[in-house]
Amino acid sequence: MREINASIPFDKALWRQDIAASKAHVAMLGEAGIVTTEDAALIASGLDQVAAEYEANGVPENWDLEDIHMTTESRLAELIGAAAGRLHTARSRNDQVATDFRLWVRDQIDETEAALHALQAALVTRAGEHAASIMPGFTHLQTAQPVTLGHHLMAYYEMAQRDRSRFADARTRMNQCPLGAAALAGTGFPIDRHATAAALGFDGPTANSLDSVSDRDFALDFLMAAAQCSLHLSRLAEEFVIWASQPFGFVTLPDSLSTGSSIMPQKKNPDAAELVRGHSGRIVGCLTALMITMKGLPLAYSKDMQDDKPPVFEAASLLALSIAAMTGMVAEATFRTERMRGAAELGYATATDLADWLVRQAGIPFREAHHITGSAVKLAESRGVALDQLALADLKAIDARVDERVFAALSVEASVAARASHGGTAPVEVLKRVAEARVALGLPKDIEA
Ligand code: ARG
Repeated sequence: MREINASIPFDKALWRQDIAASKAHVAMLGEAGIVTTEDAALIASGLDQVAAEYEANGVPENWDLEDIHMTTESRLAELIGAAAGRLHTARSRNDQVATDFRLWVRDQIDETEAALHALQAALVTRAGEHAASIMPGFTHLQTAQPVTLGHHLMAYYEMAQRDRSRFADARTRMNQCPLGAAALAGTGFPIDRHATAAALGFDGPTANSLDSVSDRDFALDFLMAAAQCSLHLSRLAEEFVIWASQPFGFVTLPDSLSTGSSIMPQKKNPDAAELVRGHSGRIVGCLTALMITMKGLPLAYSKDMQDDKPPVFEAASLLALSIAAMTGMVAEATFRTERMRGAAELGYATATDLADWLVRQAGIPFREAHHITGSAVKLAESRGVALDQLALADLKAIDARVDERVFAALSVEASVAARASHGGTAPVEVLKRVAEARVALGLPKDIEA
């Protein structure tokens, strides 16, 4: 029983929140005259002392004391004597843990928010540098049309922006205080739940005591946002894995975020990126674990809910590492722009530009232009040359309406410059979005600054 019951090995991570919530609770008990002001002051200073001990030496792990709540209360009793027993008046471990855990998740959301901000700052900085660096854009991982590296990086800025909004949304929804719901039904003591909620930075108290001690939506909201965020990070990580492989050679990874092989001296492996990709699987696993733990639990508290913490702690630390790794990768990678540009020239990436030219300059319907372009690509392929290396006579033989102006449209530079529709890959559009993003992030407008 001792072994299956104890949560102290993991819930000691909640000690700061547990002390803060207990201090808010006892201050309210004193104000409301539920305990004397002397006892309230004694308990508060005792809690400060316990906190100082935890800070200095860590939280002692005595499994007989079960969890962080009992551990703290028992140390408080050793320090201040019988008055310690008054701290638990008008509360239960059920509302206590619900409060502590919310506070912990809220802090974690704030840290995640700051970390994502740093990732976005790295993305917009590199995107600004590479607003006009041409690379192949892919669909099906087949060369499709030229894009700019800046545009590609900014796609991940947009994903991170949505991730931040998911975390912010979760924070707003969870910011109600369950303290005072007691075991499940509320309490007969004249407590002031608005006061404790305000003292702990909540927007107000929760509305239903049964829901207060049973709700773990806030933890699931965090995990859902974390899972989604980790999927984005794993896609970015995968880009780096692909780009760093020799046949691509688009990027040289920072030494600080790669490793060598123990037997192949020439190797530089993208381990950090691979681990970010791998961690996303574990983070999604954490979400699944807690969803299944919560499924079908009757109201109110059940001990199953003690298992809410390990997956949240694990996901939070994996996510923090993943964001930090990708921030370093984006900030420090060396992009091999000449390789990217060379690759964009391969694979007839400007075939759509030829078709578009036929539509615009020769008035040919797009479907027909598509067909003519297909013939031109086939001819170029058979000769082993790029589209703009075909002779005008060859193009005219395919369709007489082609003239020499077409060549200006077939370069990769012309191709990206042409795509200046809102949100398109044209360098002017990329720079416009980078500038907007820098303002949104509160970064200096000038990239050099
Ligand atoms: N360690 C417990 C948890 O994390 C605290 C709540 C215990 N409540 C109870 N009724 N046994 O869930």
